[in-house]
Amino acid sequence: MKSRVFSATRASGRLHLGNYLGAVKGYLALQERSDLECVFMAVDLHTITTPYDAKTLPQASREIIIDYLAAGLDPERVVVTLQSLVSEHSELAFLFSSVVSIARMQHLPTFKDKVKQHPNHVTMALLNYPLLMAADILVYKAGLVPVGIDQEPHLEVAREIARKMNELYGMDFPEPQRFATRGEYVPSLAGAGKMSKSVEGSYINLTDDLATIKKRLAGAPTDSGRGETIPTQGGVANLLKFVELIQGADRRAEYEASYQGAGLRYGDLKNELAAAIFAELAPIQERRRTFEADPKKLEEIIQTGATKARAIASITLKEVKTKMGLG
Ligand code: TRP
Repeated sequence: MKSRVFSATRASGRLHLGNYLGAVKGYLALQERSDLECVFMAVDLHTITTPYDAKTLPQASREIIIDYLAAGLDPERVVVTLQSLVSEHSELAFLFSSVVSIARMQHLPTFKDKVKQHPNHVTMALLNYPLLMAADILVYKAGLVPVGIDQEPHLEVAREIARKMNELYGMDFPEPQRFATRGEYVPSLAGAGKMSKSVEGSYINLTDDLATIKKRLAGAPTDSGRGETIPTQGGVANLLKFVELIQGADRRAEYEASYQGAGLRYGDLKNELAAAIFAELAPIQERRRTFEADPKKLEEIIQTGATKARAIASITLKEVKTKMGLG
């Protein structure tokens, strides 16, 4: 039997370059492996764990799917769909809630962060976020999860649940591991932290044209362009990291030599980097336009994906229910 891979994106706005380099490029590599079966979803049920708009959610979820397809995920080879179309996820999450303590969920750093962000919106759905994520993964018995390091606390919960379910009910859930992909840490253009939709000036959208990319790069902080030691933090370090991610380690080494020698001209670096980023994004934008122009085709892909996902998920759910004495 093939090993399974599961990953997902919350439907809260379109993907940016950080999501693409950090996550979706990794998905593309996994899609090529014939020993793996991959499931990728827009997790719209996770979106409703924090304040959201029911009117815009359907489109926001579809934008994620379009970004996946535009980036090159092939619905013939991988499952691509919306989480809420596969109700087995929610049902399994409820069953999992019987083996997890409230205290364990309340102490998660990710939960505490959200409580700080939305102090008047601390709902049961938010507390249950990690259980639903564990169900997303385990309903496919997926052992590999390509996600950022910030998701490690959630994966630990999924592993604990897998162990408990195996112990208590004789299930054979794998303990899902994070699958690190190249270039997964994508820094902010603003000089500190990682590229994030919520930090203005930190990101490049997958839909940006060359002029916009240039403008965004122009705002990235720099220094005098020369010195004995290459900065390891801040704007310059981040720009060099981008060069490495987009143009390769050799180009980065050349810039580093200039920095320690005759001096680095950031205007040239930024222009060249902008062109390289746009060259990578242009075919994605082209494919995006074809899916935008054909909503029927998109809907078909989503529905077919959901049918394939349910075929796997319903088997796991039935097994869990039987072993738990239900139904
Ligand atoms: N929590 C993840 C995030 O914020 C999204 C997510 C939901 C997910 N379910 C998942 C990621 C299952 C990987 C596997 O990025």
